[in-house]
Amino acid sequence: MQKPLPRLGVNIDHIATVRNARGGEHPDPVAGAWAAIQAGADGITAHLREDRRHMRDDDMERLQKLCESENIPLNMEMAATEEMLDIALKLKPKAVCIVPERREERTTEGGLDVAGQHNRLVPIIAALNENGSRVSLFIEAAAHQIEVAAKTDAKVVEFHTGAYAHALEDGDQDKADKILKALQEGAHQADKLGLEVHFGHGLTFDNVGPIAAIPEGMELNIGHFIIGEAIFMGLEPAIKEMHRLATQARYG
Ligand code: PXP
Repeated sequence: MQKPLPRLGVNIDHIATVRNARGGEHPDPVAGAWAAIQAGADGITAHLREDRRHMRDDDMERLQKLCESENIPLNMEMAATEEMLDIALKLKPKAVCIVPERREERTTEGGLDVAGQHNRLVPIIAALNENGSRVSLFIEAAAHQIEVAAKTDAKVVEFHTGAYAHALEDGDQDKADKILKALQEGAHQADKLGLEVHFGHGLTFDNVGPIAAIPEGMELNIGHFIIGEAIFMGLEPAIKEMHRLATQARYG
């Protein structure tokens, strides 16, 4: 049976953040991915960063095996570098999301400049496509970025919802409304250009509704809040509640 949209991709990076704080093997992000799958996650997302601050190479290999055996897509987030491309080509995840990455940032700040990096991205996207990974580009919902993204062979754009989440956190409803409008218009534009639309970053129980309600959205990728909330309510209830809120926002 077809599950209701939008799909929920659970980003498990921050299980690895907790593990790495002590340098041992606990908690294991792959065990977390298994628990997320049991709780109804539609996909598992993990970002292999250049500095390996959370996921490690062997985590990605174990995740890919788990996802393959559970028939759940692994979405590997990566920077557009030769090193990451080599790893992704060997790993063969179902999906790859290309993100901008700066060493000094705390998390992925801002979207990819597809327009500015077009020539560098095109061969990377082509190699990933040929290797059987569906490529998404993590961008801001800006008309020119969407136009250029549609001219690449990427099949998906993931819109960065961080600015929307921050505006709400700051109590700036006017700003949040403007950003939400841009996300809605961007989703419409991308869909018309044949791109599948995903959303991610900074989403919580409180702010997911208006994003999940955007009709073109096919997937939400959510990590930090779900893993943080799992401390209080457990991973399974946190995932189930996020699913419930997203489905309710979409279908009433
Ligand atoms: N989508 C992308 C492309 C990301 O880089 C991240 C953060 O790693 C997320 C979604 C999830 O963001 P958050 O952890 O704030 O839910």
